[in-house]
Amino acid sequence: MDPANLAILVNGWQLPGAGVALPADHNLQPRGALMYRQTRHVPAAWQWFPAARYGLFIHWGAYAAYGRGEQVLFREHLDQSDYGRAACQWNPEHYDARAWADVARRAGMRYAVLTARHHDGFCLWDSRHTDYTVGSQAPGRDFVREFLTAFRAAGLRVGLYYSLADWRIPAYWEGPNHDPVGWEEFRVYVHQQVTELLRDYGHLDVFWFDGAWPQNALEWGGPELVARMRSLQPHLLINNRLGSIPAPASAHADGGSGPGTSSLGDFGTPEHHIAAESERLWESCQVSTWRLWGYAAGEHWRSSAQWLDMLVQAASMGGNLLLNVGPDGDGRLPPQFVERAVEVGDWLRVHGEAIYEAEGGDVCEMITRGYQTVRGHTLYLVLRFWDGRPELRLAGLATPVRRARLLTTGQELQVAQEGDQVRVSGLPAAAPTRLFPVIKLECDGPPAPAAWARERLWGGDPRRMTAWAQARGTSVWADGLPRR
Ligand code: GLC
Repeated sequence: MDPANLAILVNGWQLPGAGVALPADHNLQPRGALMYRQTRHVPAAWQWFPAARYGLFIHWGAYAAYGRGEQVLFREHLDQSDYGRAACQWNPEHYDARAWADVARRAGMRYAVLTARHHDGFCLWDSRHTDYTVGSQAPGRDFVREFLTAFRAAGLRVGLYYSLADWRIPAYWEGPNHDPVGWEEFRVYVHQQVTELLRDYGHLDVFWFDGAWPQNALEWGGPELVARMRSLQPHLLINNRLGSIPAPASAHADGGSGPGTSSLGDFGTPEHHIAAESERLWESCQVSTWRLWGYAAGEHWRSSAQWLDMLVQAASMGGNLLLNVGPDGDGRLPPQFVERAVEVGDWLRVHGEAIYEAEGGDVCEMITRGYQTVRGHTLYLVLRFWDGRPELRLAGLATPVRRARLLTTGQELQVAQEGDQVRVSGLPAAAPTRLFPVIKLECDGPPAPAAWARERLWGGDPRRMTAWAQARGTSVWADGLPRR
């Protein structure tokens, strides 16, 4: 095969092979700085969300007592009645929402989302539409209300996760086509519960749906539900997991109606990975352990550096991190979680200005060292490791730098700038922090990339690099001279 005809995939962009002539008006989007800036309009009521950057996801329910993750009922095909009996007897006496809120606050998290109901259908609030709740069963308490009260009091924004799926209900599995009557009852139940949470539990900031699969948004009555939610709490941010809206039967691929995958919701929720969305707000949800969301006894924990890496990467790409914890069956946060949370919180107390309210900033070529964020005229370099050398070289910054400091210690640094090459010197030999040191560059204007840095080597048009490569000639010989 002629290699010139091979399509290559670089960082998700499909680029024609080097030998293929691109049409003159080709429109490859730059991967760099411009992509991650929040050019879209964020309504005033939602501006707290990108500013917050870091939230706590809490997966907690009767499944925690099993200690094998939030989906133990389904994944192990447990007997529904046994599980139901255990759920009704579940009485986590050590649940203290104020203790959780205190850890979240010390961790530097700015909001929290609790699973009010997961796929098992057991409700953590005292719903009047079912008795399968902590209110009607052993605890006789309203865990959701306690959570909301404590987290609000600690100054955090609050959200509730609600699974549309309810594994107990046969109509959920049958779907509207096989059991239209059962489905309709179930759908009404879901709408009533969501309405109840929005009407009786005060001001919520986020509503986090999940489990629309395998039905689509129309079958759930998603558009009507969202309209009701907005009428009850107009400021609310609703995530994107209400299912997709199918294309009308009359739509054709060439008819301009699109493929029918557009979904409801105000923000994207990439799960277990970090992926920027350019058209709406987004939040990557990640576990703090290795895989499961609900408590799993003996699970491995990711390190605090790995947590921070996820947070900074999301921030550098203009998004949030919703980091999960699964409290145990008695209602306690695992000590491994608390330890790491506080460590990252201590880091944020010193370096928070590089994260909160900062915009994504892939301005310069920094993959060699870490991430960047931007705030006004300031560029933050968040370094993933310390190499102990006195000088750091930053390539691709077009804007003049006025002042450089090591944010970690406040130490002034020297800057020499020639064209788009910046050299920051005076760095200490010893790592100034166990986690990520940050260098703060105050610039003459909004930090902007040099022409070549706008489209990176691996992210842009490969032909653009031809001139750069040609500077050394065309020969394969070391000295660039053709051999006879
Ligand atoms: C998935 C899982 C679920 C988890 C969620 C978190 O949808 O079904 O267990 O709650 O992702 O994003």
